[in-house]
Amino acid sequence: MEIRYNEKLKKLPPYLFIEIDRKKKEAINKGADIISLGVGDPDMPTPEHIVKSMQEAVAKPTNHQYPFGVGLPSYRNAVAEWYKKRFNVNLSPDEVCALVGSKEGIGHIHLGFINPGDVVLIPEPGYPVYNTGTIFSDGVPYFMPLLEKNNFLPDLDSIPEDVVKKAKLIFVNYPNNPTAAVAPREFYIKLIEFAKKNSIIVAADAAYSEIYYNENEKPLSLLEFPGAKEICVEFHSLSKTYNMTGWRIGWVCGNKDIVAGIAKVKDNYDSGVFQAVQEAAVTALASSQKCVEDARKIYKERRDALVEGLQKLGWEVNLPKASFYVWAKVPKEYSSSQVVSRLLEEASIVCTPGNGMGKSGEGYVRFALTVGVSRIKEAVERISKMRWKDT
Ligand SMILES: Cc1ncc(COP(=O)(O)O)c(C=O)c1O
Repeated sequence: MEIRYNEKLKKLPPYLFIEIDRKKKEAINKGADIISLGVGDPDMPTPEHIVKSMQEAVAKPTNHQYPFGVGLPSYRNAVAEWYKKRFNVNLSPDEVCALVGSKEGIGHIHLGFINPGDVVLIPEPGYPVYNTGTIFSDGVPYFMPLLEKNNFLPDLDSIPEDVVKKAKLIFVNYPNNPTAAVAPREFYIKLIEFAKKNSIIVAADAAYSEIYYNENEKPLSLLEFPGAKEICVEFHSLSKTYNMTGWRIGWVCGNKDIVAGIAKVKDNYDSGVFQAVQEAAVTALASSQKCVEDARKIYKERRDALVEGLQKLGWEVNLPKASFYVWAKVPKEYSSSQVVSRLLEEASIVCTPGNGMGKSGEGYVRFALTVGVSRIKEAVERISKMRWKDT
């Protein structure tokens, strides 16, 4: 029998990072010494005190049953306390829901709020899951280009009125993947005004909020702004902050009715986050944040090595203020895909084509700072040996 797939599944583009991983493995099998700057998965281990806390938590029989629901009170309290310290925002426990990684909530929010034909406003280039959830819920994506001339912020005024009228959900993501942009206060104020005026739920993806390079310019939370809790939720993740991508834990917080809608969808899809992981996450959030500071220093060294190295070779690259990505313009007369292929074939370097994350990403490649400084320098050295038409 020929297996027939759901039409929605057919509409999904191949999941970009799985494709990149496949190509990387193929090259490794051929014996290439690959420098992997493709997928945004931290190479550093989870800090020891978090691992130790997990080891203790996993041994407790009370953690062996279905976790169910919105998360342990201790986890939601730890989130609230962390939020207060970091953003000076008060959250009550019913304004927080644990997620199986922020991707899970980002992919599921549509099922709570999007009916067939509703428009979802999606930044592009951007994290692919904003669109995946839209397709699965029979929503209609409207892509908002993130352009350098607008500081990689969506231009809300340029969205046609008929699209705005049908829009029920807007995603924003700062610090941004892939452009590494951060959002200024004015943008958030305008966004809240726009959302309230047009009754559009705002889903702010703050997965990279803790990877920043300047203590005086910490990324903001959308929930810091007046009126945000009327219409906004924010997604957070422990993945990048504490090198916990494999553990699958994050949270959504903000407007309690929106949080409740997401929780209701989740009740019918999964049975919550493994409680031992939640307990370890409490340790992560409530202990000293020195491990995060140390990670920031490491990313900064890597960022400087790559950006300075590429700039010396004549590449146009801005110094990112946050995230662990470097968004670089490709040499003139080449497309993103051509550059990615040449880097892989001639220098055994894996990176992400900008256009793979949205058409406005054409002309850029994304490098993830997920290898040590010496390997980054090696990558720059390899690139320096390549010849491009305009150099
Ligand atoms: C912008 C953005 N949001 C959310 C996520 C999801 O992270 P997680 O599900 O590990 O919390 C990622 C992962 O790469 C991301 O890049």
